[in-house]
Amino acid sequence: MKAVAVFPKSRELRVIEDAPEPRLRSPTEVKVRTLEVGVCGTDKEILDFRHGAPPEGEDFLIIGHEALGEVVEVGERVQGLRPGELVVPRVRRPCPHEHCPACRHGYPDFCITGDYTERGILKAHGFCARYFVEDVAYLHRVPASLREVAVLTEPLTIAEKALREVAHLQERLPWEQRPGRAVVLGAGPVGLLGAMVLLRAGYGTTVYSRAPRPNEKAEVAEALGAPYLSSEQVSVEELRRRAGPVDVVYEAAGASKAAFEVLRGLGPNGVFVFTGVPGRKQPLELEGAALLKQLVLFNQVLVGTVNAADMDFDAALEDLGRFQARWPGGLERLITARRPPEEFEEAASRKGGGIKHVITFQ
Ligand code: BGC
Repeated sequence: MKAVAVFPKSRELRVIEDAPEPRLRSPTEVKVRTLEVGVCGTDKEILDFRHGAPPEGEDFLIIGHEALGEVVEVGERVQGLRPGELVVPRVRRPCPHEHCPACRHGYPDFCITGDYTERGILKAHGFCARYFVEDVAYLHRVPASLREVAVLTEPLTIAEKALREVAHLQERLPWEQRPGRAVVLGAGPVGLLGAMVLLRAGYGTTVYSRAPRPNEKAEVAEALGAPYLSSEQVSVEELRRRAGPVDVVYEAAGASKAAFEVLRGLGPNGVFVFTGVPGRKQPLELEGAALLKQLVLFNQVLVGTVNAADMDFDAALEDLGRFQARWPGGLERLITARRPPEEFEEAASRKGGGIKHVITFQ
């Protein structure tokens, strides 16, 4: 079958036509025909051979971790899924260690050993192939009404988990804290999906990103109801003046310098959520004393988060439906290009610009 794979030894990305077609090996497995695979910054890192690894003993990794597919076959003990139904798979699989409480309780996103695997990223083949097989426990059923946008489920789970964590963290405040103001740093798919979740949760949300206005991402943000400010046109001080005291910063730019600059704008009792893994690794100089003073005197929380658990996928699928109703056409606008598997590299470098590039299997 056709699959898109990276070969780290020869540093190549190839479309292979003869990858072995996966078969059901257990009665709880499901065979899925891939429809679409979203491409993100992590894929770019894998293509640049800075992240990821093939399965143990193999020389290539089938890439792709943001998938939507159609069930073609189910094992005899699979309940609740039938051929023809749409599904999205989760990414991370638990480590094997008895002493890892996170993995043993079904939360490999909080794994403590680092021996987890991630489909399409770390030591497990991904979904950018004609077919994939997955245990039913890692699949989520998708309503047919979400066919055109469900490829966004996985990146949306980042925001779902983050907001769930923010809600937990703010339970430390002994009064009922209403959603206040939020700043989203970065206007890529993770940022814009984050803005949608924050708006849905009731936060007055501003998107702060590099590209000067006017630009497409700014238009999308503003159509959602989130003012867009460019860091090239508006300083952090000005952002603070315009946005008011910021209760939540949702960082989705993967740029450490910008993140720590915006941290200076976090308000009293605020939470700063980091979701981006920086591509560029240049050192950073910080005014450490001033930063620590700010964190202490204002009871601020910094939290890093990686997606996501079972419930975050369920929440993302529910939210996709809500977003369709609230912003008709808004999710579709995040998907700039649909490309064949042969154009994975162009999708990863977002050739021609835009927001999200998606691989489509015919
Ligand atoms: C994926 C996560 C994964 C992370 C690091 C992200 O793009 O969405 O599931 O844990 O990359 O590999």
